[in-house]
Amino acid sequence: MLTVTPITPRFGATCSGLDLTRKLTPAEVCEVTDAMDQWGITVWRNTGMSDADHVEFSRNFGFLERVPLREDTPYRLPFRELFDASNLNAQGDITNDPAAILYRKGDRLWHTDSAFMSLRTSYSLLLAHDVPREGGETWFADTRSAYDDLSQAMKDKLEGLIGVNSLWWSRKQAGADISEEEIDARPKAEHPLVHVHKGSGRKALFIAAHTMDVTGDIKGMDQAEGRALIRELIEHATQPQYIFSVSWNAGDMVIWDNLCSMHKGGEYDYTTRRRDMRRTTVREGTEPHQLETGDDPYGELFAMAPRVVDINAARAAGQ
Ligand SMILES: [Fe+2]
Repeated sequence: MLTVTPITPRFGATCSGLDLTRKLTPAEVCEVTDAMDQWGITVWRNTGMSDADHVEFSRNFGFLERVPLREDTPYRLPFRELFDASNLNAQGDITNDPAAILYRKGDRLWHTDSAFMSLRTSYSLLLAHDVPREGGETWFADTRSAYDDLSQAMKDKLEGLIGVNSLWWSRKQAGADISEEEIDARPKAEHPLVHVHKGSGRKALFIAAHTMDVTGDIKGMDQAEGRALIRELIEHATQPQYIFSVSWNAGDMVIWDNLCSMHKGGEYDYTTRRRDMRRTTVREGTEPHQLETGDDPYGELFAMAPRVVDINAARAAGQ
């Protein structure tokens, strides 16, 4: 029997009472999705889940994105459905690779996972394996309540506006040395700044550190105004009344719905403290039975080597 305890009045809940290491019944899966639809973020303490349990449980919610294989790069984790969100290298040691460190800095800006893909991510499921004693929490922001509380004038203004999202834009914000021309030449994805969150029928902002420009029915808005608008919306949605943080222990899992929230990693001493976090990522609009075996565009996009960008940046920075 699932027990759901709210974390804030409108957003986030701690869940207990379900053993996630065993196969759930369809009714139990519905209980989880109902909790997600209402609360956007669910926190599950001390799950006891293995990597295999993590992937199996995640499949209840749709097609899982896969990490692209790189011929010359070993992968630390046993399943391609597990994204490595750690500060460790393939051997399991704390990385001192400046490219990897710079790449992870982008995760500490407010974002939604995979906003730069044309098919977005619905749920991200992050399981903690090893965590630092201090810091390394994850912050979440409620983009439905943030939308609800906007003035009617702002809601009217946002109708028909579309955000242009790029992975490399967020990395540039985090310090990567990449020009706007280079970003422009790389894949981008457009998503409305406001959309209806299917599971709840509520409207939500869809914004992220990846959101670079505003297009659509822009009514004379120029690029600078568009960028200022994105900044204003992110600042609005991350005010104290819309956010909370989760501190982790090994075994804890958090599920977040990217289509009604933003998140960011908290700071910690990543040069001396291990933080081993592994994430599965569910593709928007897919059903549990859609367990295709082929590669998908996500792999293709990443095979275009964002790490090369960061390695160049690290070199340019003289590291
Ligand atoms: Fe993320």
